[in-house]
Amino acid sequence: MKLSPKVDRLGTETAFKVLAQAQALEAKGVDVVHLEIGEPDFDTPRNICDAGIKAINDGYTHYCSSQGIPALRAEVAKEMERTRGISVSPDRIIITPGAKPIIFYSILALLDEGDEAIYTNPLFPIYESMINFSGATAVPIPLREELDFRFDIDELRSKITPRTKLMILNSPQNPTGGVLEESDIRSIAEIAQEYDLTVFADEVYEYILYEGNHYSIASLPGMLDRTILLSGFSKTYAMTGWRMGYAVMPPQLVDPVVRMITNSVSCTAPFIQYAGIEAITGPQDSVHRMVEEFKKRRDLIVEGLNKIKGVSCRLPKGAFYVFPNVKEVGMECKELANYLLSEAGVATLAGTDFGEYGEGYLRLSYATSQDNIKKALERINTALSKVLG
Ligand SMILES: Cc1ncc(COP(=O)(O)O)c(C=O)c1O
Repeated sequence: MKLSPKVDRLGTETAFKVLAQAQALEAKGVDVVHLEIGEPDFDTPRNICDAGIKAINDGYTHYCSSQGIPALRAEVAKEMERTRGISVSPDRIIITPGAKPIIFYSILALLDEGDEAIYTNPLFPIYESMINFSGATAVPIPLREELDFRFDIDELRSKITPRTKLMILNSPQNPTGGVLEESDIRSIAEIAQEYDLTVFADEVYEYILYEGNHYSIASLPGMLDRTILLSGFSKTYAMTGWRMGYAVMPPQLVDPVVRMITNSVSCTAPFIQYAGIEAITGPQDSVHRMVEEFKKRRDLIVEGLNKIKGVSCRLPKGAFYVFPNVKEVGMECKELANYLLSEAGVATLAGTDFGEYGEGYLRLSYATSQDNIKKALERINTALSKVLG
């Protein structure tokens, strides 16, 4: 069988590979601490589960609108008004099975050979993978540790060419936990308008923020019509397995993306969308409790990592990842991640799993208990002292 050459351009998400490797070790009896996978370890709140079960019992088990049920889209529109002061019609809101499909569909709908897309590097790997798959050129802009993993705005300007069509932002960020400042976002908005760029604003970690308020580029004048604003339920409500996300779209993209949904998955399961309505409109205290606990874990892991010889770690402002600098250990980060898994039973990801500028770093997810974090820190310390003496 001769496959299309384009499948070679489709990358992947290493977290799932490392999870499988770690599980294979566990099947052999090895005790592994999981710091690789990026999902809240909390249960989906009871009220949301009950709403989903009720919707199944009420018969919401058939096909529904490809774009998403009107009742959920109306609630997302209200959420946009509440959280960002954005007034948007539910006609511009699209619900998908997870946030990820919005990345897949919008990039395919927008980019072609000859186009360029600027994306921060390191970044959630699906972006680079999809830009490459579309045939466009992926133009990385390095995140700088000394800028708390933000990027230099002049460097952004220097990457723009007449072919630049899309700029991808993610704040709070995966894998670094970095958060863009309001001044960064204002400058990016000016640049986007000056050069007529579309902005993809991935805001799936909007609620997992430890200081200040979330700031969305879509709320700036003139930006809503050129921004694909992505958010969802996976991280905020610990609903990764339910598969549901949403986007606010520029008007021209709504119909093509909805057609892609119809051509691929038809729709997002309606009973899950009813659970989504409960997530948005119901009590939010479980979200606040989860974020408070993440903050304690963040402090614990950053303090612990900074005590380990060869490791230094900044205090991230959002998401549930740390991105420690491990350059002094003197191994390539991929080799180091493999060593920590096989030698210490700690599953982590290499910074380069998120792009070339991730070399010299590891990504650790602290979406696990404080006891597991302490165990991982001890094990990493022991394993690295064998390397560094
Ligand atoms: C930055 C970012 N965007 C999107 C997603 C995808 O989320 P979902 O599970 O809702 O598809 C993730 C998941 O890790 C992510 O880190």
